[in-house]
Amino acid sequence: MFTQRITDTLAHIEELDRQQKRTAKDIPFWRVSADNGRLLHILARACGAKRAVEVGTSSGYSGIHIAAALASTGGHLWTFDLEPFKVNLARAHFERAGLEGVVTQVAGDALQTLPAFVLSNPEPIDFAFLDAVKPHYIRYLEILRPRLHAGSVVAADNVGPHNADAVRSYLEAVRGAPFVTSIVPTENAEGRRDAVAISILEA
Ligand SMILES: C[S@@+](CC[C@H](N)C(=O)[O-])C[C@H]1O[C@@H](n2cnc3c(N)ncnc32)[C@H](O)[C@@H]1O
Repeated sequence: MFTQRITDTLAHIEELDRQQKRTAKDIPFWRVSADNGRLLHILARACGAKRAVEVGTSSGYSGIHIAAALASTGGHLWTFDLEPFKVNLARAHFERAGLEGVVTQVAGDALQTLPAFVLSNPEPIDFAFLDAVKPHYIRYLEILRPRLHAGSVVAADNVGPHNADAVRSYLEAVRGAPFVTSIVPTENAEGRRDAVAISILEA
């Protein structure tokens, strides 16, 4: 559910993002568009996700959309990022949105923190959003795979033609059984044509 606090926090991040682009100060957020954020929200909510993972937190913009869905389903989001600046910024945004109880942030290189998370958390993952290092999507999928179950949904951002080489192995993996995948054309927050891969695990 989008409470007023959540809506206000998303608007605040959009304004920070505009400022960052105007001044070129601080690290770019590279956030999803508002439309893609709502798509993630709908996907997580529609599959009744109780346990969700996001790789690439940045400012918390996409994470807030996912966590807002999990607040409705009674679920929890684990979100991973490498940059201390972004981990701190996202923490402030999750708190501002009133979603801190729904989100656990994990700091560090996801190629190390994600396997450690999977090892210490045997419960299934219902929803995953991949949005960090594009050539590593295939590794993120392999790492998460033992925790995915029939009906788990995986969304991967920025799989448009400009990233064709970087995401080739990932798309090859999810385009066939046991996954069913739709590549949905999108526009990113910079108004550039892109695509998100939405996959469901069949068995
Ligand atoms: C495209 S941004 C994520 C945007 C965010 N999902 C959103 O829409 O609001 C990619 C993020 O991945 C993080 N990242 C880059 N390399 C990483 C790594 N090796 N492990 C974890 N996170 C990493 C960056 O710090 C950056 O915040």
